[in-house]
Amino acid sequence: MMLYFLLLSALVGISSAAAPGFANGVTGGTGGATVYPTTLAQLRSYLCGSTDSRGYCTDNTARNIILNRSFDFRDSMGKTTERGCFHRNCNGKPGPSQVGLNFDNYCNGRTATSVTYDKAGRSGTILVGSNKTLLGSGNKGAIRGAGLMIKGGVSNIIIRNIAITDINPDVVWGGDGIDIDNSSRIWIDHCYFARIGRQMIAIGTKAVQWVTISFNEFDGKTGASATCDHRHYWVLLVLGAQDTVTIYGNYFHNSSGRGPQIGGSGTQHVHVVNNYFENLSSAGSLTAKVGASVLLEGNYYQTVTHPVYSSTTGGAIFGSYSDAGTCASYLGRNCIGNRAAKCNTNYMPANIAVLNVFKNYKKYLVNPMHGINVPSWVLANAGVGKL
Ligand SMILES: *[C@@H]1O[C@H](CO)[C@@H](O)[C@H](O)[C@H]1NC(C)=O
Ligand SMILES: *[C@@H]1O[C@H](CO)[C@@H](O)[C@H](O)[C@H]1NC(C)=O
Ligand SMILES: *[C@@H]1O[C@H](CO)[C@@H](O)[C@H](O)[C@H]1NC(C)=O
Ligand SMILES: *[C@@H]1O[C@H](CO)[C@@H](O)[C@H](O)[C@H]1NC(C)=O
Ligand SMILES: *[C@@H]1O[C@H](CO)[C@@H](O)[C@H](O)[C@H]1NC(C)=O
Repeated sequence: MMLYFLLLSALVGISSAAAPGFANGVTGGTGGATVYPTTLAQLRSYLCGSTDSRGYCTDNTARNIILNRSFDFRDSMGKTTERGCFHRNCNGKPGPSQVGLNFDNYCNGRTATSVTYDKAGRSGTILVGSNKTLLGSGNKGAIRGAGLMIKGGVSNIIIRNIAITDINPDVVWGGDGIDIDNSSRIWIDHCYFARIGRQMIAIGTKAVQWVTISFNEFDGKTGASATCDHRHYWVLLVLGAQDTVTIYGNYFHNSSGRGPQIGGSGTQHVHVVNNYFENLSSAGSLTAKVGASVLLEGNYYQTVTHPVYSSTTGGAIFGSYSDAGTCASYLGRNCIGNRAAKCNTNYMPANIAVLNVFKNYKKYLVNPMHGINVPSWVLANAGVGKL
């Protein structure tokens, strides 16, 4: 009785939590049953109990799925070996290279090798339907060896306090952590991502709207790496046709690329705010390409080779206290400058085109804290077990 009461009060507290930023108003499974899966098959069917002929999830039933242990999909579908290639020649570099599968002609021009991988990572992705909350209990909720797939027009999904790890970490195209395409109203909060072959989170290429990615830890420490330095390259990609995404309060560390990469095709409106980036090499932090409008403010960069690796359409506000006031007439407040320590920084002025985009989203903009306070705050709050 007592335990039941404690669980109930914990759930009430959790379901009343509100997403900051673009996912504000997302309710997930609120109002639906609360279930505790005990097998891999049960976890799958609670997240998505039915599909259509295209493989899209048709299960819209509101449901709260609580994980109180690790669900390990490795070896659940066996292993296979096929002809692939090395991502890169790492001779003379400190770490070994990732290998890759020959997906999308990836191996053209690369050195061939045979690749053994776990099938669940690639073919066993776990579909998530509309109106679902997936929630970890304490610090125990984990999914290993297979990622989540959110696609086919689904909406209203909360994924909180879950570790998603160990998906063919050595293999490019071996699987994503969370793959999101053609869907909306998604809140990914207080999760932990590590040792994943391809993207930790991939958004694209169809429209993905009203998404918040908050207080997650993206741990790039890995064995084989695309950049030969034990840092994971494929972190967070935002590439949709028409995206609105908030990236807030996350901890990115020991990685070397796509933290995040935004644009290249489509149109993305992304608020990157109050994140802590630590120890990133190469293209470890922001790469903004054509189509991206990025409001980059109040972030802290510690030992990052290039806080803004490249930005063609950037719209970043970088360390720019003199420009911060330019924001006021667009956003109704000053922008908050980014901070950097032990980094190469290039001054980036306020971009008026970007402010013109974001002036339409005032009610979805997180009100940032000053960058100087971000490291200790993010370290105290980001990741699993910190709800
Ligand atoms: C669940 O999702 C569907 C489709 O996305 C929506 O129409 C419906 O109102 C939702 N139901 C609940 C209980 O949230
Ligand atoms: C998880 O929750 C279920 C249902 O309440 C319970 O039977 C099970 O013992 C719990 N497992 C752990 C590891 O706490
Ligand atoms: C998105 O999913 C919906 C629902 O399945 C579908 O009708 C629509 O065609 C999809 N949109 C795109 C661009 O694929
Ligand atoms: C940065 O990360 C690399 C690779 O994981 C590691 O070797 C190095 O010790 C780290 N340095 C700091 C200052 O954390
Ligand atoms: C990066 O990894 C190294 C070990 O490779 C570790 O010593 C260091 O603390 C890590 N740095 C961060 C910021 O996580």
